[in-house]
Amino acid sequence: MLKISDVSVVRNSNTVISDISLNVGDNEIVAISGHNGAGKSTLLKTICGLVRQSKGSISLNDVAMDNLKPDQRAGLGIIYVQEGNRIFPSMTVLENIELGAFRKDARNSIEKNSAVVFSMFPKLAERKHQKAGTLSGGEKQMLAIARGLLSEPKLLMLDEPSLGLAPIIKQQIFSTIRSMKGRFSVIIVEQDIIGALKVSDRAIFMQEGRIILERFSTELLKDRQTIRKLIGF
Ligand SMILES: Nc1ncnc2c1ncn2[C@@H]1O[C@H](COP(=O)(O)OP(=O)(O)O)[C@@H](O)[C@H]1O
Ligand SMILES: [Mg+2]
Repeated sequence: MLKISDVSVVRNSNTVISDISLNVGDNEIVAISGHNGAGKSTLLKTICGLVRQSKGSISLNDVAMDNLKPDQRAGLGIIYVQEGNRIFPSMTVLENIELGAFRKDARNSIEKNSAVVFSMFPKLAERKHQKAGTLSGGEKQMLAIARGLLSEPKLLMLDEPSLGLAPIIKQQIFSTIRSMKGRFSVIIVEQDIIGALKVSDRAIFMQEGRIILERFSTELLKDRQTIRKLIGF
């Protein structure tokens, strides 16, 4: 579905991504892990068009996207939920969620889809008419994900969705991601390697702008020695 071929990104004359090639299949969940500064967010931003690659090509269903602007890629269903839950604090929870339904396909199903996300996140339903700025960190993250879901994504990219959350909320976020299986493709960037492996089909580990490891998640989950090495890098 998504094909990244030999992509490099240079920022301020530093190469932050080097020769990345990666495919994401239909309905596949791919986890990307790696330490701070490895280039994970830059890769997601390059996929959605916020950052320009200096080399290589990205295609969606065999159609090159390299000349498409971020809003055009979003129109095709490539949705990026940035790290640090960028919600609109002075708008209500419901207004934030409805903003997600900007795609033509999604506008007609806004009521159905908001009902689905409210049943997924009952806390958001309770706070529907509250200003989003009054939510807790976990609830804001749920809101950011819910807004992404309202757009009926083809590829949903979540950047560190569990960062800074209490373990129980983290579990809730991970099980939400698992429930996306079979509906669309997902790329999740996560520091919590074990958590990410449990919800993903395939795992990538990045270091200094390169992919240094690519494995099926169930396989890597059994290989504790490699996981320890990755964590202890
Ligand atoms: N806006 C920017 N301008 C220049 N360099 C940047 C910018 N954003 C990130 N970088 C650099 O790119 C590298 C990768 O950053 P990033 O993709 O945010 O890593 P990660 O998400 O894995 O922590 C880092 O060295 C960072 O300093
Ligand atoms: Mg990042």
